Amino acid sequence: MDLFREATAADRHSCLRCGHSSAHRWRRCPRCLAFASEERARDPDRDELLGDSGGEGLPHALPTLPSPLSEIAAEALPRCSTGLSELDRVLGQAEDGATGLAPGQALVVGGEPGIGKSTLLLQALAGLGREAGARVLYASGEESREQVAARARRLGIEPLDHVDVLETRRLEDVERALAGGEYVAAVVDSLQAIASEALDSEAGSVRQVKLVAERLTEIAKTRDLILWLVGQATKDGRIAGPLAAAHAVDTVMWFETDASGAYRVLRALKNRFGPAGELAVFEMRSGGLAEVLDPSALFAGARRDKNRPPGSAWALVAEHARPLVLEVQALVTGGDKKGDAPSRRVASGIEAGRLALLLAVLEQRAELAVTGDVYVDLDAGVRASERALDLPLMLALASAARGVALPKGIAACGEIALTGEVRAVPRIEPRLREAVRLGFTHALIPAEQLDALDERELGLSLEPVATIADALTVLEASS
Ligand code: TYD
Ligand code: MG
Repeated sequence: MDLFREATAADRHSCLRCGHSSAHRWRRCPRCLAFASEERARDPDRDELLGDSGGEGLPHALPTLPSPLSEIAAEALPRCSTGLSELDRVLGQAEDGATGLAPGQALVVGGEPGIGKSTLLLQALAGLGREAGARVLYASGEESREQVAARARRLGIEPLDHVDVLETRRLEDVERALAGGEYVAAVVDSLQAIASEALDSEAGSVRQVKLVAERLTEIAKTRDLILWLVGQATKDGRIAGPLAAAHAVDTVMWFETDASGAYRVLRALKNRFGPAGELAVFEMRSGGLAEVLDPSALFAGARRDKNRPPGSAWALVAEHARPLVLEVQALVTGGDKKGDAPSRRVASGIEAGRLALLLAVLEQRAELAVTGDVYVDLDAGVRASERALDLPLMLALASAARGVALPKGIAACGEIALTGEVRAVPRIEPRLREAVRLGFTHALIPAEQLDALDERELGLSLEPVATIADALTVLEASS
């Protein structure tokens, strides 16, 4: 018996509400998210074997016998938009190009108190309800329903009657509210404030956080509910609390400020439905969080076409799906310091081990010993760990050590080997296109990648470098 044969015209499922039709069974229409909306030409053999799993509130019935992959239709998970395009992009893209959340997706959003988690999730939740034309639930254990209502009005949320608020600190209350199955999405704020009566440990303990996350995620999975869990980190940046729930959910996101404190950066740490490492930038305004649509331009700001002081280099970063042009800054002090005090090596946004390695390579392969305390920083509080940062980081260090500024309009990317050779980087074209878009005129690139690129077509003059000694001639040219 072929349980999963190709659907024939008489074996399609279509939604009673919006008419969406597909070969797959669902309990909730993938397009309009209406429950129990499925209508299907009957197939008695299959019904008998699968049982009636179409009823409201029942989990999907799964065949108990293994089937070859070739006979299992790939499930095209639909996506539900939050109405915030940057957030949708970080969440990931389905095959059809739609971005946002998948039904049944469970997420944790972690961050320190005051960063804007409740604001972001209330905005996203209301957006989900609006886009899906369905009801959503905000369960608050941290703030009163009046406080949530005041925030919703401040944020200008429309329509207010789509969002139900439940003020509780008991897991069982949240479960009961979700059991009715009328919601497409829910926010539980926060994991640390909600506890089960079944355990005698306190709210916020690792056991409670795990249980709350597991039980609510199970409900999300059986009801195709989008579930956001807020995870509070302590002020000293301890993330153990939110991460205790990470195993249970599909997606873990982290929300933090950039170095200037003016912006908020949201990053996907784990994501079963999209890329990890992706980031979105928001600005906290009086009316809530506003998306920063062009973070490269924001980070590079007006500085990119100005002469920069020694110690600055522009890096072409493509660690995230969207390439960024970021300023790497290096400062070298106290080179003539006497005594036994060890030198300090401080890296922020960049791996400390990489900094040590580049200093060693500079000394051994370019006869440039950087003495004294060394500080390096990546622009705007963004963190990046890809090897393509090596070349711009090394240029910033050499520029700082020699007190010579790099010529303006130059950006760089390249991995540096222990031999002092400059190695190829992945995705070089999108990096270079981003540089052109931001007005850069020159790029230092790994020499081995020159042949694969078309300078004229890119509109950028490319300076191939094979070794760090080649790269350092840029500094000589400008001194
Ligand atoms: P909040 O979302 O409560 O942070 P979290 O849930 O992570 O603890 O918001 C934090 C800060 O944002 C709070 O200090 C007030 C500020 N804020 C605004 O500036 N504008 C707004 O529209 C809102 C709702 C909050
Ligand atoms: Mg909050």
